[in-house]
Amino acid sequence: MEINKLMNIVFPPLLIIALVFILPPFLVFKLVCSIQRFVYKENVAGKVILITGASSGIGEHLAYEYARRGARLALVARRTDRLQKVAERARQMGSPDVIVITADVSKVEDCQRFVDKTVNHFGQLDHLVNNAGVATARYKVTSNISDFVPVMDINFWGSVYGTHFAFPHLRKRRGKMIVISSASAWLGLPKASFYAASKAAQIGFYESLRIEVGPEIGITIVTPGFVESEMTRSNQQEKGKLQFLGNEPTDVCAKAIVESTCRGDMYLTEPFWVRPLYLLKVLCPEIWDWAYHLLLVHRRRTGDKKA
Ligand SMILES: *[C@@H]1O[C@H](CO)[C@@H](O)[C@H](O)[C@H]1NC(C)=O
Repeated sequence: MEINKLMNIVFPPLLIIALVFILPPFLVFKLVCSIQRFVYKENVAGKVILITGASSGIGEHLAYEYARRGARLALVARRTDRLQKVAERARQMGSPDVIVITADVSKVEDCQRFVDKTVNHFGQLDHLVNNAGVATARYKVTSNISDFVPVMDINFWGSVYGTHFAFPHLRKRRGKMIVISSASAWLGLPKASFYAASKAAQIGFYESLRIEVGPEIGITIVTPGFVESEMTRSNQQEKGKLQFLGNEPTDVCAKAIVESTCRGDMYLTEPFWVRPLYLLKVLCPEIWDWAYHLLLVHRRRTGDKKA
């Protein structure tokens, strides 16, 4: 019999049997590890944190959360005036040194510049927070397909470029990377397929990278579910979307992200209850698609009629 045919028959039941034995001791091991990570969590006071997309939303609140803990900050975004305001508030909240850098993460030379500027100013880099991102319009057959190129340039390449240039500096400090992806990467998001795709691309890249760079550089992948931001607010107003669920306040989410990063977690989903939805999707994809369709697609259609 061909090896793959044999594996198809033998491997799945073997894995299930193995899991039955492996899972209980593994969960105990995981619990011990998480207690250890909690006890020995990183203190970021005085450390240098670079945050992209820091002018609003999760990025802005991450700046405040790091500032409260006494970290030094490099804040990056396209809107200088808003960035200045965030920087001022971060200083008031306790950050000893904040610089702002106007840059567009979808431009490779901008990303090189903001990393160089940060390291020239502070002499080191400890955390890189890849947060900058944009939402997309709905894809239709009549769409101009070129309109969807920028979302990949910002959400995917905008993370990768910064990571590339920050790499040697992070390695020197045994630093960390934080990737703000989205639960839509593994759940899908009707009417925002390119957004979901760009976020899934991030996860694919950083999960692979994490295996390569191992413990040298920690990578925490964050998958927010429903969190208040400019993105979700504009979605609610313009598209009547996502309002069926209470969005988590941005500051609550930002605090959870910094805590999780300091513990060195591999993954964080906020709010937590969104994570088990992944299990539902993997085990019963038909039910998932059907429920999602009913909640988002159908709801939207009735909204259209009223409007
Ligand atoms: C689609 O968008 C691109 C870039 O914005 C533009 O150059 C092109 O002319 C557009 N194509 C059509 C058919 O509108």
